[in-house]
Amino acid sequence: MQDMITLALAKGRLAEQTFTLLENLGIDCSDPRNPGRQLVLWDKKNNIRFILVKPSDVPTYVDHGVADLGVVGKDTLLESGRPLYEVLDLTFGKCKLCIAGYADRSNSPVTRATFRVATKYPRVARSFYDSKGQTIEIIELHGSVELGPVIGLSDVILDIVESGSTLKANGLSVLEDVCDVSARLVCNRVSLKTKRERIRSLIDGLTAQVELLKE
Ligand code: PRP
Repeated sequence: MQDMITLALAKGRLAEQTFTLLENLGIDCSDPRNPGRQLVLWDKKNNIRFILVKPSDVPTYVDHGVADLGVVGKDTLLESGRPLYEVLDLTFGKCKLCIAGYADRSNSPVTRATFRVATKYPRVARSFYDSKGQTIEIIELHGSVELGPVIGLSDVILDIVESGSTLKANGLSVLEDVCDVSARLVCNRVSLKTKRERIRSLIDGLTAQVELLKE
């Protein structure tokens, strides 16, 4: 029997695209594609266990070694600060982390002295502004971050920009790029040693699939 592999995935688009790649490698994803309320799903034949978790929890499961591999957005990975092996850029789920706000500061209702950044990514924001030597105050939000500058809670936001339509609809613009984001395959450091052969062959298979996506 080959080693059991546990794969942590966040329900939604990233998982769906990951299933397609895995199916091309002969892995049966019919159960995790239709999980109902079940959180642990199997491809018994290939001894692969899928766990379906919140996106921000994927790095936690992999870091603790209860999942050998995980698929997670680069944004979530950076924010987690966890020392995982990022073994493959899966190239889907592309967007950017950006600083956004009013292109014309005279539109901003903000008058205070401290520069405030509203974000779902406080760790990324801290590190971005630290690297520029700029002192900021971070306001952590959990959604609808664009409201920050509009309502005068913050000067700018650090957030995901995909189509740009949320910014546009709220009269905001990208002021600076922070980094490119896409889905990443991450691996637990111990699993990579103890289940080397199985994990290597999965990584190689997925790498070949990603190359095909590029064509
Ligand atoms: C994300 C992000 C932006 C928006 C960007 O929010 O936080 O608000 O999508 O996408 P766009 O550039 O294509 O408009 P999400 O939809 O996850 O909702 P949230 O604001 O509740 O976090």
